[in-house]
Amino acid sequence: MGAGWYTPGMSQNIESVLNETRKFPPVPAASLGFARWHIGSEEEYRALHARSIADPEGFWREEAKRLAWFRPFDRVLEWSAPDAKWFVGGKLNACYNCVDRHVQAGFGECEAIIWEGEPVSPRTNHPSSTSRYASEPEIRRLTYRDLLVQTSKAANALKALGVKKGDVVTIYMPMVPELAVAILACARIGAAHSVIFGGFAPTAISERMIDAGSRVIVTADGGYRRGEVVPLLRNVEEALGLLRNHGHVVEHALVLRRVGHEVAAGAMKTGDKRGETVMHWWHDTVDRASDACPCAEMDSEDMLFLLYTSGSTGKPKGILHTTGGYLTFVQMTARLSFNLMPDAGQVFWCSADIGWVTGHSYVLYGILMNRVPTLMYEGAPNFPALPGGGGDRFWSIIARHRVTQFYTAPTAIRTFMKWGDHLPAAHDLSSLKVLGTVGEPINPEAWIWYHEHIGRKRCPIVDTYWQTETGGHIVTPLPGAIATKPGSCTLPMLGVDAVVVNEAGQELGPNQGGLFAIRKPWPGMLRGVYGNRERFVSNYWSRLKDPKTGEPWYFSADGARRDEDGYFWVMGRVDDVIKVSGHLLGTMEVESALVSHPAVAEAAVVGVPHEIKGNAICAFVSLKTHWLKANNRHPDELLRKELTSHVAKEVGALAKPDQIRFADGLPKTRSGKIMRRLLRDVAAGVEKITQDTTTLEDFSVVAKLRENEE
Ligand code: WTA
Repeated sequence: MGAGWYTPGMSQNIESVLNETRKFPPVPAASLGFARWHIGSEEEYRALHARSIADPEGFWREEAKRLAWFRPFDRVLEWSAPDAKWFVGGKLNACYNCVDRHVQAGFGECEAIIWEGEPVSPRTNHPSSTSRYASEPEIRRLTYRDLLVQTSKAANALKALGVKKGDVVTIYMPMVPELAVAILACARIGAAHSVIFGGFAPTAISERMIDAGSRVIVTADGGYRRGEVVPLLRNVEEALGLLRNHGHVVEHALVLRRVGHEVAAGAMKTGDKRGETVMHWWHDTVDRASDACPCAEMDSEDMLFLLYTSGSTGKPKGILHTTGGYLTFVQMTARLSFNLMPDAGQVFWCSADIGWVTGHSYVLYGILMNRVPTLMYEGAPNFPALPGGGGDRFWSIIARHRVTQFYTAPTAIRTFMKWGDHLPAAHDLSSLKVLGTVGEPINPEAWIWYHEHIGRKRCPIVDTYWQTETGGHIVTPLPGAIATKPGSCTLPMLGVDAVVVNEAGQELGPNQGGLFAIRKPWPGMLRGVYGNRERFVSNYWSRLKDPKTGEPWYFSADGARRDEDGYFWVMGRVDDVIKVSGHLLGTMEVESALVSHPAVAEAAVVGVPHEIKGNAICAFVSLKTHWLKANNRHPDELLRKELTSHVAKEVGALAKPDQIRFADGLPKTRSGKIMRRLLRDVAAGVEKITQDTTTLEDFSVVAKLRENEE
């Protein structure tokens, strides 16, 4: 293996990561006020893990029995690589497992969701103010019974719109309880949900709806973020226009009134039409629907949801998860990674948006199944902004709700570090017991800061490594059992046969960089890329195989190494996707957006190490000279701004390039391949780009020098 697996995203930390020798042993459960750890020692973990790999069917059979099944499964697994069927013949329902079963067991009055909306006006600093905010944050608490009533009503409303078992319902909503209700309502009637993160643009919505063949969308008139209204309905209306041009009929849009002043909604009334789409207000339909709706009996392998994620080629792919396996895996990983226990005063908070897989598995499904209250928040960590800069919303949420497990992303932690230690120091964080991180490698400095300033040196940190495709945690410390090392996600989850191998499938020795693979199926694994068998097989199951039997292994597209203790250190992606602030972006998505602008001839996008975001997006763009001439335009700051907002409009604000560098032409090999590695080096080598430079990059010389290396 050459240096090919090495991506620049990790270069910023590689030195410190390689020299990292600190080790933090697990602490006794009682020191954190836990009755016990689910798994309390490394020996216990090792024995269980060994058993789970030696006898996966026996192991998963027991785990699956923790769910409520309408009909028990006949077989644990049918495996014909890369196709897995888990818990064959079993019938169950996801909403039933998250909601109904708890109500039936007598826990209807227990809190299921605690929600905090964005405070809509900035905080006052007037000394006489008793409130931390000019207006107290809006808080709603939903019990399991509330969820039962609301999901039943929403399910009936969806049914009335013609939604049937097997249909795909698109959900594009702010972080409000109704988002959880909409998701669970789909599950209740056996419709698959396809949630689109609220930061995506109309084009992204329309592409996903076409790909999924989705004819119903649930949205809201807007959501709050940093005091501004995110115009969700306006984006949906724009998407409906695009969909019409494609001949894709969206039959119904169900719209929640969240911001009320109807910036986008105009004078919309239930029954209005936008093209062929009938519009419905949530309060006219869901609120008036019957609250009796039985849970559909779903086959274990029936689709539960689609979630679109970026790939290195083509448009985002619809990752397909099914019911029995996904639920078994997320209830187990949630329970073990965070030591969840019902009735123990726990409040779990994962700060991710439900539009990402982390929100699916660890804001909703995994936490609700374990009957621990899950906190949902709307807004951003720095709103209301503090006079000195930054914000303390997260710490005030933890203190106000006595959060016991807190799960966030390294990019957020690095931002908090920058804002200063005094912000968390001013809050009572003594309720915290377990801290988690997810989404990208965490640099040891950020890990230590999290440990000292948030965990106050008491709380174990679980660095959970996983993907949209894996459904849940695949490598992570178990907090009572595994000593942690800053920057390492430590050891595989029970039932996950993870290895680091070379291209030939041979396991590598300590500290040798290689490819991350999983050798055996696990219940949370994706079952496909929606409507694209070829992509499913080629993306995940073609690169690595068992050298002896030839059976394909799952390849995550991450580079990794294991140290002398067998601990995993994930080094970052080896394909052409970039993790920007923990969000996955395909370089090709950004490139396609750029070339769709009339000024652009060619574009190449690479990741550059970034102190806070992990990676920033750098776009090299060559322009159409005739267009520039004809329009009297120049490769200047104005054009850069225009291209940046063009990308935001085409994909979403999260895809905005941090740098746009104009080039005469892009460096290519003789066979015409863009020399990405060269571009990465060029992008990473420049500390600061002067934004007003109009010099064109001249790659002709370097390209020639580098040609043989690619
Ligand atoms: C990266 C997010 C290092 C990795 C749950 C993976 C991580 C991609 C970690 C999946 C971690 C996630 N340490 N890298 N703890 N967690 N990643 O699908 O590159 O949005 O392939 O799922 O995030 O991103 P996705």
